Amino acid sequence: MWEYPTWEVPGLGSGMVIGLIATVHVLVAHFSVGAGVILAIGETTARRNKDLSLLAFLKIFSKWLLLIGFVFGAVSGVAIWFSISLAATRATSMLIHTFVWFWAIEWVFFLVEIVAGYAYYSSWGRVPARHHLVLAWIYASAAWMSLFVISGILSFMLSPGKWLETGNVWDGFLNPTFLPTVFLRTLSSLGLASLSAMVIVNLYSKFSRDERTRIINFAAQFLWPLVLMLPVAYWYFEGIPSFAKTLIQGGAAAMTLFFLFGIAASTLVGVYAYFGLIRAKRYINLETALLLLSIAVIATVSMEFVREGIRKPYIIYDRLYANNLAVDEVERANSEGVLASAPWKRIGLPEHPDPHLLGEKMYEIQCSGCHVMNGFNDVGLLIDGWPKEMLAYNLDRLHQLKPFMPPLVGTEEERRALVIYLMNLQDNEGANPDRKEVARDGIDSQS
Ligand code: HEC
Repeated sequence: MWEYPTWEVPGLGSGMVIGLIATVHVLVAHFSVGAGVILAIGETTARRNKDLSLLAFLKIFSKWLLLIGFVFGAVSGVAIWFSISLAATRATSMLIHTFVWFWAIEWVFFLVEIVAGYAYYSSWGRVPARHHLVLAWIYASAAWMSLFVISGILSFMLSPGKWLETGNVWDGFLNPTFLPTVFLRTLSSLGLASLSAMVIVNLYSKFSRDERTRIINFAAQFLWPLVLMLPVAYWYFEGIPSFAKTLIQGGAAAMTLFFLFGIAASTLVGVYAYFGLIRAKRYINLETALLLLSIAVIATVSMEFVREGIRKPYIIYDRLYANNLAVDEVERANSEGVLASAPWKRIGLPEHPDPHLLGEKMYEIQCSGCHVMNGFNDVGLLIDGWPKEMLAYNLDRLHQLKPFMPPLVGTEEERRALVIYLMNLQDNEGANPDRKEVARDGIDSQS
C-alpha cells in the first residue's frame, strides 16, 4: 500500500510545493497556447492587410513566447514530474500506466510545439511569408492539442466517470468534465496571452500611440470570449462528482469563494474587452494592462485551486485517496496494519516500536501530506485543547468529521499510538490535563 517513501517538506508540505510549481506551469503553459493562436491569426491578418506594425509586434511577441513560455514552461513542466513522483508516487504511476499512449501523444505534440516554435521565431524574414505562416499554424495547433490531451488526463482525476466500472481508458479520457475543461482552459489561455500582448506592446517605445491602440484592439478579440466563463463553468460543475459539488456549494467556504471569484473576474474582464477595447477602440496603458493581467492570473489560479481542492479526499476520485491509500485497501490496512505495508517506514525501527514512534510513523504516512507540523494546516493547532477521548473518537471518524479527509486506517494498537503522538503535539501544556496523562502512558508502555 505504502510501498514508496513519503516526502516531507518542512513548513509547506509536499502538496503545497506541487501546487506552487503547478501554478507557475499552468500560467506559462496557458500563455504559450494562447500566444500560438494570436500569432497564427495575427500573422494571417497582418499579411493580408499588409499591416507592418502588427507584424513587427508579432515578431517581438514570439520572442517573449520563447523566453517565458519555452524556458519557464519546460523547466516547470519537468519540475512537476519530479515533485509529483516524489509526493504522489502511486498516483503518478497509476496515471502513467492508465494513459500510456495518451502521454506518448502528449509528448509528441509537445515536441512538435517546441520545434515549430523555435523554427517560427528564428525564421522571421528568412523564409517566404507563406512558409512562415505554416510554421505559425503548426505551432498553434500542436500547442492547443497538447492542452486538449492533458485536459483529458487532469479532468479524469476529478471525474473518472464510467472508467471506474469499465476500466476502459477511453471512458477515462472522455470523462464528464473533459470537454468543459478543454473549453475553460482554452478561454483562459486566450485571455492570458491577449492581456500579455497588451502589456508587452506597452513596453516598446518604438510603437506610436496609434499603433499601440490598434494592436491592443486586435488582441482584445481574444479576450471577449471570457464572457462565456459563466456558462462553461456551469457545464463543468454539472460534470463533477456530487460530493465535490457540495464543497463548491458551501461545504468548503474557500472553494465557493474562489470559484465565484474566478468566474466573476473573468467575465468582467471579457465584458470590458468587448465594450471598451473592441467597440469603443480604447487604448490601455502599461499599468492598466498589468492590472488586468494580474486579475486574469488570479482568476486562473483560483479556478485551478478549486479544481485541485474539490478532489479531496481523493487524488484519483473514488479510487485512490490523497494519502496514497487505495479505496479498496481500507479493510486490509485495518486488519494487517499500516506499518506492515510501509517498508520504508520500518527502516531502523525496532521490532516493537514505542507508541510515540509508532504514532509518528502513522502520522507521517497518513496525515503529513495535508497537515504540516508547525506550518500549513498544523494539526497540533486544530486539535488544541481536545481531550484524549474526543481525539480518539474523532480520529476513528475522520472521514465523517470532515469528509474531505480519507478515513483513518490501522490496527487498534496503531490508532492508539496515533492518539498518543497527537496529544503531545497540542500547545499549552498546562491547559489540557489529559496531555500529561498521555505522556505518562507513552513512557509506561515503553518500559
Ligand atoms: C486530504 C488531505 C488530508 C489528509 C490526508 C488528512 N487531513 Fe486532516 N484535515 C484536512 C483539512 C483540509 C482540514 C480542515 C482544516 C480547517 O478546517 O482549517 C483537516 C482537519 C483536521 C482536523 C480538525 C477537524 C475539526 O473538526 O476541526 C483533525 C483533527 C485532522 N484533520 C486530523 C487528521 C489526521 C490525524 C490525519 C491523518 C490520519 C489527517 N487529518 C489527514 C485535510 C487532510
